[in-house]
Amino acid sequence: MKTLLLTRRFPDATIAAAQALFDVTIRDRTDGLSVEDAATALQSFDAILCTLGDRFSDMAFAVPDKRCGMIGSFGVGFNHIDVAAAQAAGIHVSNTPDVLTDATADLAMTLILMTARRAGEGERLVRSGGWDGWHPTQMLGTHVTGKRIGIIGMGRIGQAVARRAHFGFGMKVIYFNRSPKDVDFPARQVDDLHGLMSQADIVVVTVPGGGANTHLVDAAALGQMTDGAVFVNIARGDVVDEAAMIAELARGRISAGLDVYDKEPMVPDALKVLENVVLLPHLGSAALETREAMGQMALDNIVAWAEGRPLPQALWTV
Ligand code: DGY
Repeated sequence: MKTLLLTRRFPDATIAAAQALFDVTIRDRTDGLSVEDAATALQSFDAILCTLGDRFSDMAFAVPDKRCGMIGSFGVGFNHIDVAAAQAAGIHVSNTPDVLTDATADLAMTLILMTARRAGEGERLVRSGGWDGWHPTQMLGTHVTGKRIGIIGMGRIGQAVARRAHFGFGMKVIYFNRSPKDVDFPARQVDDLHGLMSQADIVVVTVPGGGANTHLVDAAALGQMTDGAVFVNIARGDVVDEAAMIAELARGRISAGLDVYDKEPMVPDALKVLENVVLLPHLGSAALETREAMGQMALDNIVAWAEGRPLPQALWTV
């Protein structure tokens, strides 16, 4: 039986399915593998079921005497794995697209509504005991229905957000995407990011993290946003210049709904003290059915590798 490391406690269904097929070791911790631990794992197990926060960098893959032939990553984003280094080492890698698209798009809508309607602030007010009753000008937010939404990255999740915005909230959709996209609902592609930032009432970031997308949304881009606009990030923290975003939020001109941060789980105090920002702990795919589907997809890939078949969700192919 092949050995399989689970780098976290995954859903019970995932663990049970894994244990039926592999000799499983569970690392029962919530933090990610360090580069050193990732390297050791590559030397110690035939296959690894990992997730974001596990640091499979080029340094980890440089370790000698690797035993691992397959990394199944739980999640669609894979900026925690140096896929080129894995490929050079002959280690197969897969991710879990599609199964979390709806859950993540739903979370984007949650953040849009919470931020525009000041729901986090309102919840804090009620819990603090400081609410003195309804009055006509209390905690006025921004109307969402019919506004213009700007999507950065029109991939699967971007399109799912756009659909919800268009069909559910009657929003006009504009988007910035490096390549042209053919979508089956009304949406206008904008050629440059600054154009999108300056025209949208609500901006949602859905591009993958790392590489050329690092700090794609910088101070200049944030400065283009109109007064009262809402900025939402459900992608990866490094896509946004976090310091510049905090400075822009501190001016009070825009508000933000964030699910991701540059150095998770560290969230800067300068962000936590601001009332015009909703902060969630990376909940994008955090629904039980979704996480079980992600676990099953990751395992399906590991099984395909174990049986010598092509991976259904391969991140590199021969
Ligand atoms: C992913 O799959 O990349 C998400 O960020 C996890 O929720």
